[in-house]
Amino acid sequence: MSQQNAPQGEGNAAQIAYWNDKAALNWLTLQTRIDAAFAPLTARALDAAAVGAGERVIDIGCGCGATTLELARRVGPAGEVRGFDVSAPMAARARERIAEAGLAQARVEIADAAVHPFVPDHADLLFSRFGVMFFVDPVAAFANLRRAMRPGGRMLCAAWRPLMENPWFVLPLEAARSLLPPMAPPEPDAPGPYAFGNPERVHAIMAAAGWREVTLTRQDIAIRLAPPGQLAEATEFVMRLGALARALVDVEAAVQARVAKAVAEVLASHDGTEGIHLTGSIWLIGAVK
Ligand SMILES: C[S@@+](CC[C@H](N)C(=O)[O-])C[C@H]1O[C@@H](n2cnc3c(N)ncnc32)[C@H](O)[C@@H]1O
Repeated sequence: MSQQNAPQGEGNAAQIAYWNDKAALNWLTLQTRIDAAFAPLTARALDAAAVGAGERVIDIGCGCGATTLELARRVGPAGEVRGFDVSAPMAARARERIAEAGLAQARVEIADAAVHPFVPDHADLLFSRFGVMFFVDPVAAFANLRRAMRPGGRMLCAAWRPLMENPWFVLPLEAARSLLPPMAPPEPDAPGPYAFGNPERVHAIMAAAGWREVTLTRQDIAIRLAPPGQLAEATEFVMRLGALARALVDVEAAVQARVAKAVAEVLASHDGTEGIHLTGSIWLIGAVK
């Protein structure tokens, strides 16, 4: 996928490249299914953010726009929502959806949130669904985000708890492990989905960036991978998204086929009348400027 129009950040260059390539393709392909699977956790994050009519919100790492749209509905026409993302293709999808929904109060910019010159002292709420764990220098990034907030403005960010405490990451990965080359365990603090798993680290980052009243609230939520009996669909979901997807990036098709069989066998035991579910475990991170 083209990196044309992608921001030319320096420190976050590797992540910017990643989010303009295969990752974006997977998120675009699965967009409606991701939004359905994440709907319960999204509702919890949005409710915890207590979004009010007329508020100004920045949505960081807004991706294909699911939360930008919902935030825009909640702030109403008197409010304003600005989504920011480094992924040109995902931002394009978000813009299309905003236009289709006719939500003039929402807009999306392609920008590296770590260094973007936000309008200072402006936003009431900094919101993110899984978009703030990819900064190479998270202290500098969260200090930059803090400058965008009006005095007393608040943050509500959803981030994954540790890999090993997230069955929806671990179970598919374990099912495939014997079929894949040995994997080094991910560095827990490296930019990526698990970077905010350690609560002490998150507290330290936020304090160093100047945020106060920092809270982390654990939420364990069933993620519906597919309707009942749809094992192929559930298997595709976890092979394109999450920990297993990252492990499969350069794996040849024949091995991928064997992985799919092994993963489907494991997912079969999570198939119920309401669908195929695995548990996801997240932090809701709150703070005040
Ligand atoms: C896991 S996806 C989540 C997307 C969206 N929030 C959602 O939940 O559907 C992470 C998003 O963060 C974006 N991202 C990563 N680093 C970023 C940065 N430095 N500035 C802005 N967005 C970034 C990626 O492009 C990607 O869209």
